[in-house]
Amino acid sequence: MIVCVCKSVSDRKIRASIAEGVDSFDELQFELGVATCCGKCEESVRDVMAQTGVCASRCGVEHHTQVATLTFYERKAA
Ligand code: FES
Repeated sequence: MIVCVCKSVSDRKIRASIAEGVDSFDELQFELGVATCCGKCEESVRDVMAQTGVCASRCGVEHHTQVATLTFYERKAA
């Protein structure tokens, strides 16, 4: 699923970057360009990071279980 439309970045690509050692939102922005254009994908990128298990102190998400239950599209539909 595409998470960042502006940069055509999928959740799979974000997960791959995290698996390769990227462990902060800033690094994802630098490596993939997510949330560097319109910025609307930031919350979704952080959701993917949380689902992947990047800890709250690094990604800034404190409630992983609540955030992880809704996808980008589910939030948009709500
Ligand atoms: S959707 Fe990611 S910067 Fe616009």
